[in-house]
Amino acid sequence: MTAQKLPMVVPSEDLPPRVRIHEVGARDGLQNEGRTVPTEVKAEFIRRLADSGLTTIEATSFVHPKWVPQLADAEQLFPLVSELPVELPVLVPNQRGLDRALALGVRRVAVFASATESFAKANLNRTLDESLGIFEPVVEHAKSRKVHVRGYVSMCFGDPWEGAVPIHQVVRVCKALMDMGCDELSLGDTIGVATPGHVQDLLSELNEEGVPTSAIGVHFHDTYGQALANTLAALQHGVTTVDASAGGLGGCPYAKSATGNLATEDLVWMLQGLGIETGVDLGRLTATSVWMAAHLDRPSPSRTVRALSHKE
Ligand code: HMG
Ligand code: MG
Repeated sequence: MTAQKLPMVVPSEDLPPRVRIHEVGARDGLQNEGRTVPTEVKAEFIRRLADSGLTTIEATSFVHPKWVPQLADAEQLFPLVSELPVELPVLVPNQRGLDRALALGVRRVAVFASATESFAKANLNRTLDESLGIFEPVVEHAKSRKVHVRGYVSMCFGDPWEGAVPIHQVVRVCKALMDMGCDELSLGDTIGVATPGHVQDLLSELNEEGVPTSAIGVHFHDTYGQALANTLAALQHGVTTVDASAGGLGGCPYAKSATGNLATEDLVWMLQGLGIETGVDLGRLTATSVWMAAHLDRPSPSRTVRALSHKE
């Protein structure tokens, strides 16, 4: 029996023709690995991701090295990949992080807010409003240097300490980030508890409050196996930016119940089947995740990677 390497294409008229994948494996994925990956391996990972056709590859974070030791080599890593012909956004939690990033010529940054008090405290050691107060001058400074700014909002659907998160609470933080001048938002389901109806309700509410769908990306973790269903719900709403991590790497060190992100290969398989362009070569991407899994010494959790790399 020969394994089918690509899905049959059956387009759906009410979905966008093209999706931009915001690849987070090198950042969201590797920040949560027990073992720290050598800098040169990270650089090679990013090169291979670019070579597989991904055009937006989140490279690392300029956070406190004690908080996320896995990414403590941001200064060494970024120059190794900065010449690649792709966008390489990085996370910055504050002015110190932005200064470090700007010193290396970074052109895209992301601040990361929380929809809940508990996670703002756990992740940033600040209250929610304190963290927004820190981001405001950071966004202003970045925009004055013509740097693209993404605003993440974590815990948009549920929070491990607070439970279900009311939509109005999420909308408030999203609007605050847009008012500061963020170019785009990414709605984080940090612990993977969202379901499709909840996703569509949040998107509708954001539209009603003046946040256009074109400024919204989605960021699903796959803890409860809902990430792909949630993505389809977002696509049906018109979202065209989807975060995913190669091989399904990922999690969040400050939310223990977070598991890997939606696997990029699982996403690409679905999008190809729907006739939606991504520019990604699924074979090359899968080979990259298999290569990375060998470095991490554990198999990829992605179903598509496992199916495509299965040896009969
Ligand atoms: P803090 O301890 O409150 O820091 O941490 P501080 O402002 O009090 O400063 C203490 C020391 O840290 C000072 O040094 C600062 O200079 C230094 P000292 O004067 O004592 O020598 N410092 C820094 N050093 C390097 N780089 C910096 C920096 N900032 C301060 N940027 C802080 C506050 C924000 C720094 C800390 O909490 C932190 O680094 N947090 C990062 C947490 C993180 O990276 N979490 C994972 C990313 S978010 C995520 O994964 C969710 C997402 O995927 C979406 C989703 O799934 O929901 C995006
Ligand atoms: Mg995440």
